[in-house]
Amino acid sequence: MNKKVVVFGSFVVDLTGRTPRLPVPGETVMGSSFVMGPGGKGSNQAVAAHRAGADVTLVTKVGRDVFGTVATDFYKKENMDTSYIFEDEEKETGCALILVDESTAQNEIVVISGACGNITLEDVEKSRKLIESAGILLLQLEINLDALYKVIDIAYEAGVTIVLNPAPAAQLPDEVLRKINIVTPNETEAQVLTGVKIENQADAKKAAQVFLDKGVKEVVITLGSLGAFAMNQERNELVERLNVEAVDTTGAGDAFNGGFVMALAEGKDLFTALRYGNVTGALSVTKPGTAPAMPYRKDVQSMYEKNYK
Ligand code: RIB
Repeated sequence: MNKKVVVFGSFVVDLTGRTPRLPVPGETVMGSSFVMGPGGKGSNQAVAAHRAGADVTLVTKVGRDVFGTVATDFYKKENMDTSYIFEDEEKETGCALILVDESTAQNEIVVISGACGNITLEDVEKSRKLIESAGILLLQLEINLDALYKVIDIAYEAGVTIVLNPAPAAQLPDEVLRKINIVTPNETEAQVLTGVKIENQADAKKAAQVFLDKGVKEVVITLGSLGAFAMNQERNELVERLNVEAVDTTGAGDAFNGGFVMALAEGKDLFTALRYGNVTGALSVTKPGTAPAMPYRKDVQSMYEKNYK
């Protein structure tokens, strides 16, 4: 039977402008389009896992405002559980200001976490049973850290497998890291957490070893154009980036994490889950936007089979 996936993380509204090129500080450039839609790393990862076929519940917080309804309307349309979307009485729903360079498909993002940066310990207590019932708990770093640490403690004591995507990059105490089963940084986040600058597979191995030495059980590092790397005490492996026509790379890491935990929830091993993550990330960049660009099970499975069977 598939394990239950709980994602405890951010929802923010993405305000995305596409532009022929990104402006330098102090410069104004004329953009070509604007879209508003659901985003936030926690929510994007939950949507990716859900569309890829996992049984997912997202815990997040929104404000009592029109942006908050973007979340609930979207989850209802997606047929996702909305029972753990907390509402803040005062704080506004978070938002992200995103610029996408049309010529490179790369982006720049500023996130204002708003309500999901104001998750109270009472909200966490209300989610305790859900967290304890999870097979896999997926976390990121876009919510307030006091709440995050409490969530980790509850899951750790209950023996839940904790997957941490440490994004956006931040330092974390070793005391917290040792409770994490699988950490999934990109190369920049891995450098912040380990001090190892990653330019090739050998560097990725060095950084992964730092995590293992801190007590993390397994490590996945996404490496952009190089692909994605996984390592545990027994084995390490790099899978190459899959060739697709990229229109928007925003949320590719979130798609990777969603596809990755879906596969883990189905009982796949680390290295098979790495490939599912790779496929889910690759498919997501072929469409504009973040949550709306997450691929569905049928397409994930068919690309997986085409590349890895
Ligand atoms: O990872 C992409 C996400 O980061 C965007 O959806 C944006 O909301 C920011 O949180």
